[in-house]
Amino acid sequence: MGVKIAVLPGDGIGREIVREALKVMGVLNSAYGLNAEWEEAAIGGDGYDTSGDPYPEATRKLAHASDAVLLGAVGGPKWEPLDKPLRPEAGLLGIRAELGLFANYRPARVYDQLLGASTLKPEVVQGVDILVVRELVSGVYFGQPRGFEQVNGERRGFNTMGYCESEVERIARTAFAAARLRSNRVCSVDKANVLEVSELWRETVIRVKESEFPDVELTHMYVDNAAMQLIRNPKQFDVMVTGNLFGDILSDEASMLTGSIGMLPSASIGEKFAMYEPIHGSAPDIAGQDKANPLATILSVAMMLRYSLGKADLAAKVEAAVEAVLDDGVRTLDLAGGSRTVSCSGMGDAVSEKLRAMAG
Ligand code: IPM
Ligand code: MG
Repeated sequence: MGVKIAVLPGDGIGREIVREALKVMGVLNSAYGLNAEWEEAAIGGDGYDTSGDPYPEATRKLAHASDAVLLGAVGGPKWEPLDKPLRPEAGLLGIRAELGLFANYRPARVYDQLLGASTLKPEVVQGVDILVVRELVSGVYFGQPRGFEQVNGERRGFNTMGYCESEVERIARTAFAAARLRSNRVCSVDKANVLEVSELWRETVIRVKESEFPDVELTHMYVDNAAMQLIRNPKQFDVMVTGNLFGDILSDEASMLTGSIGMLPSASIGEKFAMYEPIHGSAPDIAGQDKANPLATILSVAMMLRYSLGKADLAAKVEAAVEAVLDDGVRTLDLAGGSRTVSCSGMGDAVSEKLRAMAG
């Protein structure tokens, strides 16, 4: 039986990186019998340009009818003047919320081959293997009330950061379950010394651990300290679980341990749907120049194979092909070192060739 993937390239470098990921999928079809088919639809600025909606109805329908969604990136200066609900980011937040993708897995793994590419000392980052589990459909990103008001003759902007117990329970369960498949340690990140929402977060995480995951080690860290510890001694972390905003920030920080944000894939998973996307943005400054690093998107395909398509063996093959290409010294521009600098499509070709060769 075939599988169907909704492919949403989006804006900026989104189209280029997704093209390379599809190249890899093509090899999985032809050389590994994957039997996947895909259909493209618009999201973000592309959605606005083609149908006046950053999350068009046709895209929603396609996503609902597919086994998984693969997304490139959204956003760009062109759409910044638009009203907030029409902006590309509203499309991304819209699809996350509409598909109920509450659990965002962002693994930050340092490849030995890229040790020199990190801005941190090799001895600090060697062996780092962190999974950031970010809550994705609540918190201050979605809290009500929000907006602008007039106070004492000046404008005031405001947002609401809130979590219900049930929202914390389900993301905590996700993190504990993920930890059981790794080193069995979870660090929950909050700001419980200041925020009520964090107090509830912490109490709820502790309750879930005690009642359902007594075997998993749980620690807590304030977000400011966590940001500092990630740079000071990142190897202390296994799974980090945190809310939407803190997770957004800490996952970008964690990505730089690996040498480039261009390396980090992600999976966003809910009860019924799942979406896979690189954690980086649309990089308008290099869009259309065939310079971007497609590895985060290719590694997102690996996550899709593992979590949505039940093909852990093929996921491992894709990951091995990426490692083999890095072993060969092949690098995109964002990755320092190496012996051969290639374009975005050059990197996609290199991974595809490896994968084909590995099939024998
Ligand atoms: C991310 C991005 C998005 C976010 C933006 C583009 C809305 O930074 O996926 O981390 O803030 O979630
Ligand atoms: Mg971000």
